[in-house]
Amino acid sequence: MNKAIKDLTAISIIGIAMILAIILGRQLIYPRTLRMLADQKNILIGAAVNGWLLSDPDYSVILANEFSLITPENALKFGPLCPEPGVYLFDEADAIIAFANSHQMFVRGHTLVWTNQLPDWLTSREWTRDELLEILYRHITTVVGRYQDSVYAWDVVNEALANDGTIALDNFWMKGIGPDYIELAFRWAHATDPNALLFYNDSFAEGMGEKSNGIYAMVADLLERGVPIHGVGLEMHVGVDYWLPPYSEISANIHRLSDLGLQVHITELDVRLPTPITKEYLEQQATIYGGMLSVCLEQPACTAFGMWGFTDAHSWIPYIYPEWTAPLIFDEVYKPKPAYWALIETLESK
Ligand code: G3I
Repeated sequence: MNKAIKDLTAISIIGIAMILAIILGRQLIYPRTLRMLADQKNILIGAAVNGWLLSDPDYSVILANEFSLITPENALKFGPLCPEPGVYLFDEADAIIAFANSHQMFVRGHTLVWTNQLPDWLTSREWTRDELLEILYRHITTVVGRYQDSVYAWDVVNEALANDGTIALDNFWMKGIGPDYIELAFRWAHATDPNALLFYNDSFAEGMGEKSNGIYAMVADLLERGVPIHGVGLEMHVGVDYWLPPYSEISANIHRLSDLGLQVHITELDVRLPTPITKEYLEQQATIYGGMLSVCLEQPACTAFGMWGFTDAHSWIPYIYPEWTAPLIFDEVYKPKPAYWALIETLESK
C-alpha cells in the first residue's frame, strides 16, 4: 500500500511539474498574452469551448493564459441540456463554468432560445401556444437560475431574423408562440438574473444592410417598450473569398447600436480559408483578424471580442463545410498562427 501511494504521489508530482513547465515555457517564449494585453484595453477576449477538451493540458493552459471569456459551444443549448422533458444534463456546462471560475474568467451563456439544436421530445409533436410558453418559461428560469451570478452575459435569443431583417417565420418558437416569444424570453431571463447582461445574437448582420437594419429596428423597439436588453452579439463568421463586410460598415453598425445605449460583442469570430491553405491565405486571415479587432477596439461599446474556438484542431467549420478550413488563431498542434500575432500586434499598437 505504501509503495502504491508513493508511486501515485510521484506520478502526481510529475504531472503537476509538466503542467507548470508548459505554463512557464509559454510565458518565457511568449511573455505577452492576448488576455494580458486585452485586460489593459478593458476588453474581454474570448473563445468557444467544449467541456471534454478541458482535460487536455495543452488546450486548458492556452485557454486560461490567452482568454478572459469563454462560451460553451454547445453545452448550454436546449437540446444538449434537456434531452428529455424535465431532465437536465448540466455536467459539461458545470465543468466549463467551474474552469472559468478557477481561472477568473467570464462566461457568455449561449443560448437560451434558438430554433436549432432543440430536443426531439420538443420538436416531434404539436403544442399549444400556452404549452410552449410554459415550456420556454421553465427552461429559461431553470437554466438562468442555476447559473445566476456565474454567467456574465446570455445570448437570450439567437438568430431570430431572416436575411431581409424580418422575424423569421420558419422558426420553431415563432410558429408555436408568435413574435412575442422574443420579448418574453428577455423579460423572463432578467427576472431570473437581474445582474446578467442580456444579448440578442445573430449572424450575417455585422455590416450595414437589410438584416442589420432589422436587428437595429427590433432592439430599438424592445428598448422603447422597456424590455431588458443590454446588447447585440455580432457572430462574425467570415472568411477569405467568403463573407467579409467592410470594416467601415461594421464600425457604423456598432456605433448606431451604441447610440441606443447597447453594448456590442463580437461573439463567434472565425475566418475560414479555402483549401488548400497557402501562405498568402494565412496572411490574409491575419489581416482580417487584426482588422476586426481594430474595429472593436475603436468602439467603446464593443466590450468583448470572442472567437468560435481557438485551435484549428477543434472547429465546427471543416466538420460542416469540408471545402473550408483552418479558421482559427492556433493551428492543429496548438502553435500560434500569423492571425494570433496579428491580434497581439493590434492590441500592442492601439
Ligand atoms: O453530440 C452529438 C454526438 O453525440 C453525435 O454522435 C454527433 C453525430 O450526430 O453529433 C453531436 O452533436 C453535434 C454538436 O455540434 C456537438 O458536436 C451536432 O450533430 C452538430 O449539429 C452540432 O453543430 C453545432 C452547430 O452550432 C449546430 O447548429 C456546432 O458544434 C456549433 O459550433 C455551431 O455553433 C453555432 C452557434 O451555436 C450559433 N451561431 C452559428 C454557429 C455555427 O453554426
